[in-house]
Order: sequence, then structure tokens, then C-alpha cells
Amino acid sequence: MKDKFTLRAEREGYKARSVYKLKEINNRFKLIEKGDRVLDLGAWPGSWTQYCLEKASEVVSVDKKKLNFGKPIVCDVFKDEIFDKVKGKFDVIVSDMAPMTSGIKELDEGGSFRLVMRALDIAEKLLKKGGNFLVKMFESEETEEVLGRVKKEFRSVKIYRPKATKKRSSEIYILGKEKI
Ligand SMILES: C[S@@+](CC[C@H](N)C(=O)[O-])C[C@H]1O[C@@H](n2cnc3c(N)ncnc32)[C@H](O)[C@@H]1O
Repeated sequence: MKDKFTLRAEREGYKARSVYKLKEINNRFKLIEKGDRVLDLGAWPGSWTQYCLEKASEVVSVDKKKLNFGKPIVCDVFKDEIFDKVKGKFDVIVSDMAPMTSGIKELDEGGSFRLVMRALDIAEKLLKKGGNFLVKMFESEETEEVLGRVKKEFRSVKIYRPKATKKRSSEIYILGKEKI
């Protein structure tokens, strides 16, 4: 059965229900400002890109799968070719990347942790000083390590679990504001 966020996304023309997670986070923490240049990592099918396009001046969308709108870049983020394909620096980097889940908790948590660390590596190179960062993570023993790194690299750190997150999901969103 479709839940209320899925039905709302269909009604409002968004590609996925996950848009309401980003909307809630942005309304609360003012991550994306008018005129920003945004990099959306793990962008397919594109609801975060749709929302960012309503706010930002430019949105570059990276995924292994190709978006059919905006400025899509088809790339596996673990490949260094991402730094040739994505040009310039960004005011905001968001990552909703998730591994292909296996159902084996440790495996899925490990996959999520590696994606989070890679998103942070990308932010180190491509996020402007003072820029904002948001990343999804499956909560695990490694969460403390991630928080430690975000605390070193950003002026403020928040953990947030939006209302649209499914009850059984272990996902959290980590927000780093103002890159040092
Ligand atoms: C939950 S979906 C993102 C949904 C998107 N935020 C939206 O609102 O439409 C996660 C995405 O991460 C992408 N992804 C996972 N691993 C990746 C990798 N190594 N490189 C690039 N994209 C990856 C998947 O292809 C998938 O499309």
C-alpha cells in the first residue's frame, strides 16, 4: 500500500517520496539558499534535484543511473573520474546515496559508511569554504567516526531523522554547516 508521502509525491509531481525528507531538513536548518550551486550525489530518480532546482541557481546531479532532466552526470562516486566530470566548486553538497541493500545488517551498514566517507572526500575537494553538507547514513558503530570527522571539518553538526523516514529504517541524516 502506498503511504501518505508516496501519494503526496505523486500528486505534487515529485519523482520520489524522499523529497519530503530534504524539504523538512531544509525548512528547519536552512541548508540551501536562493542562488546556491548544489551538487546532488546519488540523485536518481531525481526528487532531491527537483526540490533543489526550486531553490538553487544550478544543480549538478551525480548517480550511476542517468537522470533525464537537469544537469546529470553518470558516474560511480568511487571512481576518481568524478573530479574530471564535475567542474567547479559548490555552495552545498547533499548525498542521499544508499548501497544496494542485502538485508544483512553489517554488510548494508558497511556499504553506507563507505558512501558517507566518500561523500566527505568529495566535499573536501568540491565544497566551498563556508558551504553546507548533508549526508544520509545507516546508523551503526561507525556513526561516531563520521560525526568526529564532520565536527573537524564543519562549524556545526546536527543529526536529524525526518518524519518521512520509514519507521523500520535505520537511516539518519547528518548535517555539517559552514565548512571550515
Ligand atoms: C535513495 S536513492 C536517491 C533518491 C534521490 N535522492 C531522490 O530523491 O530521487 C540512492 C541513489 O544512490 C545511488 N548510488 C548508490 N551508490 C552509488 C555510487 N557508488 N555512485 C553513484 N551513485 C550511487 C543509487 O544509484 C540510487 O539512485
